[in-house]
Amino acid sequence: MSGSGTNLAALLEAAADPSYGATVVAVGADRDDIEGLRRAEQAGVPTFVVKVGDYPSRDDWDAALAEVVAAHDPTLVVSAGFMKILGKRFLERFTTVNTHPALLPSFVGAHAVRDALEYGVKLTGATVHIVDAGVDTGPVIAQIAVPVEAGDDEDTLHERIKNAERTMLVETVGRMARDGWQVTDRKVIIG
Ligand code: GAR
Repeated sequence: MSGSGTNLAALLEAAADPSYGATVVAVGADRDDIEGLRRAEQAGVPTFVVKVGDYPSRDDWDAALAEVVAAHDPTLVVSAGFMKILGKRFLERFTTVNTHPALLPSFVGAHAVRDALEYGVKLTGATVHIVDAGVDTGPVIAQIAVPVEAGDDEDTLHERIKNAERTMLVETVGRMARDGWQVTDRKVIIG
């Protein structure tokens, strides 16, 4: 992760209740000194940082990140506000889900909220999807629609999206962890 970690905070809070059926085994980031790492430490969850700049190539970084993650043996990797593209060596080892602040396939990339606002859509939202080799192109698991209101700027719209996004992410990750999932021809079925 790289952001303020509110999606992570929602997952940590949910996972604190045994009936959620999933635990957060570790939290990683590509840089130090971010809110998400502090939130994880406060919750007593192990943390790690693997920085792109510490490796000779993106491919080496990707492989190193995969090794660190593998040591925690996760069932699922959740990318929440993680703004780096994960490579093949990582993705072939773990099912990774990403949460994106738009209704994919509209507004892929790092500026989804701004792009939706500039386009003038009246409805946007958030998407939880499985990460594949493309940028926000993997199979969709869940989506939630959020209205754009007159007078919205990027911050007000993103806050409204994040409120809906957190609930959807917590619910989706919990269902996947409890019930398992299958992907056939891009269709994701939980259970
Ligand atoms: C979330 O809205 C997430 O969808 C977005 O960053 C925010 C992180 O918020 N991710 C992307 O834009 C990825 N392209 P958080 O740090 O408060 O969880």
